[in-house]
Amino acid sequence: MGQEQTHLAERLEAAGRRVAEHPVAPIFLERWSSRAFSGEPIPDAALFSLFEAARWAPSAYNSQPWRFVYAKRDTPAWPTLLSVLVPYNQAWADGAAALVFVVSKASFTPPGKSEPTVSRSASFDTGAAWASLAFQAHLDGWVAHGMGGFDDEAARKALNVPADHRIEAAVAIGRRGEKAVLPERYHAGETPNGRRPLRETVFEGAFPAS
Ligand SMILES: Cc1cc2nc3c(=O)[nH]c(=O)nc-3n(C[C@H](O)[C@H](O)[C@H](O)COP(=O)(O)O)c2cc1C
Repeated sequence: MGQEQTHLAERLEAAGRRVAEHPVAPIFLERWSSRAFSGEPIPDAALFSLFEAARWAPSAYNSQPWRFVYAKRDTPAWPTLLSVLVPYNQAWADGAAALVFVVSKASFTPPGKSEPTVSRSASFDTGAAWASLAFQAHLDGWVAHGMGGFDDEAARKALNVPADHRIEAAVAIGRRGEKAVLPERYHAGETPNGRRPLRETVFEGAFPAS
C-alpha cells in the first residue's frame, strides 16, 4: 500500500471499518464475532447447513477428525452446555440460539493400514471445519462466535467426550442483536476489530533473522 492509501486505511479502521491490504472476497472482512444476539431461535435446517459446510472441509487423508456437540436454547441440553463456559462467556452466550462444542479426534487409521495412528493435523483440520461453519453462518445471516473460555474438565464430563478426543473450542450461534441487550461491559467490543499487517505474518523463504 502507498502512504496515502495507508492513511486512508487507518482512518477507515479508526471508524470501525475493516480494510484489506489486498483484494479479497467481501465475506472475509464482513464476518465478525459480535456478542449481542436477537433472541431468534435457529431452525434445525439452518443449523445443519452450518454443519454441512463444516463437513466439506479438507483434512489429512480425508480423515475428517471434527466432531460437534450442540444444544439449542430452550432444550434440555442447553443449561449443561452453557454451564461449562466461563462466567464471562455465559453472560453473553446465554442469548445465543445454539451452542456448539467443536471436538477433534486425535487418532485415525490411514488408508491401507489396520492400526490407528496419532494425527498430526487433527486440530488443524478441525480448525478448517470451524472456519467453514463460521463463514457459512455469515453467508446465511447468522453469527458464529468462537470461544476458548470453558472448563475443559467439566465439558469433557458433561459432553461425554471420548478419551482420545480434544475439545478445541465452543461456538455461540445466533442472529446478531442490538448491543443494548448486553451488559455495559461488553458494549465496547461490539464492533469489528482489525488485524496486524501481513508483513508481520508472511515471510518469503524463511523467518527474518531478528
Ligand atoms: C478459538 C477461539 C477462541 C475464542 N475465545 C473467545 C472467548 O472465550 N470469549 C470471547 O468473547 N471471544 C472469543 N473468541 C473470539 C475472538 O476474540 C475473535 O474471533 C477475535 O477477536 C477476532 O475477531 P472477529 O472474530 O470479530 O474477527 C475466540 C475465537 C476463537 C477462534
